[in-house]
Amino acid sequence: MTLRSAILGTGSALPARRVSNNELSETVDTSDEWIIERTGIHFRHIADDSETTASLGTLAAERAIAAAELAPSDIDLIVLATSTPDQTFPASATIIQTNLGIDDCIAFDVQAVCSGFLYALTVADNMIRSGSGQKALVIGSETFSRILDWEDRGTCVLFGDGAGAVVLGTEEGERGILSSKLHADGRHNQLLYVDGGPSTTGTVGKLRMKGREVFRHAVVNLSAVLHEALGAAGLTAADVDWIVPHQANRRILDATAKKLGLPPEKIVVTVDQHANTSAASVPLALDTAVRDGRITRGDVLALEAMGGGFTWGASIVRY
Ligand code: UT7
Repeated sequence: MTLRSAILGTGSALPARRVSNNELSETVDTSDEWIIERTGIHFRHIADDSETTASLGTLAAERAIAAAELAPSDIDLIVLATSTPDQTFPASATIIQTNLGIDDCIAFDVQAVCSGFLYALTVADNMIRSGSGQKALVIGSETFSRILDWEDRGTCVLFGDGAGAVVLGTEEGERGILSSKLHADGRHNQLLYVDGGPSTTGTVGKLRMKGREVFRHAVVNLSAVLHEALGAAGLTAADVDWIVPHQANRRILDATAKKLGLPPEKIVVTVDQHANTSAASVPLALDTAVRDGRITRGDVLALEAMGGGFTWGASIVRY
């Protein structure tokens, strides 16, 4: 039997405030029709002053721990994927640790933008399988609304805030993470980046993106890494029950599934309700489809994401 990291529970959280395309069009030169046709987005949730990356991440984590039928004290490791931490340091994972009432565990942040959850999942999977603990909390949480230029219609309509989490536990058996493949290519920095930082401008900065170029790279890289991860798991696209993708654009989701030869019915789509929540989007989509009964135990899931860096990756999971 092989030791694997199984997904024991999932959870998610969204800010209370939901913003429609029409509401945005009151302050930005855009329209409901344009946003839906080009992206598939209908709504996004936006954090208020009381909601932060750590507070949303805490809620998602509490729900994942409850779904796993565990207590916070069972958690040995917290890996938080975020590009919008509450503070430059310390890691927001340590704020979540304190909020959960965990006195001592390993806790740190991972920064790989929209691929962050895949990076965090892979790090946690490797750490618990090599003995750094038995139960890991892997969280993606973001408040991208805080780094958007609300006068740039090319970006501000695309993103939202939210959090998703999973609890991983090591098991001997068939279920769990079967393979993960990660990549980065820093030469594409200027296609998707934030124009500030502690060591350069001393400011937080705003998100900048050349959307059309990112789109082109996304479809190619995502289908390639999915093939690579499926091959490493000894599976083919025909074995996949659900693609659980990073939710950037409905057209990217459809084009990637088509390249794999999979029908659109096999894609978990939440971009219409949540927009692009960066590192939170894969666990948010996963939790949504687990809770509404689409994803059931034994299903083969293909998780994938691509984002700033560029970074991209995929994990194949038997749920
Ligand atoms: O999560 C990280 C990964 N990110 C992504 O994967 C995002 C990838 N890119 C995309 O999803 C798409 O490229 C966008 C949704 C960002 C843009 O869609 P597009 O079909 O590539 O449009 P475009 O950028 O080529 O713009 C087409 C037109 C332009 O007008 P002109 O130059 O043709 O007159 C834009 O100025 O649409 C205009 N436009 C808008 N119009 C109304 C751009 N944004 C808006 C807007 N409302 N919000």
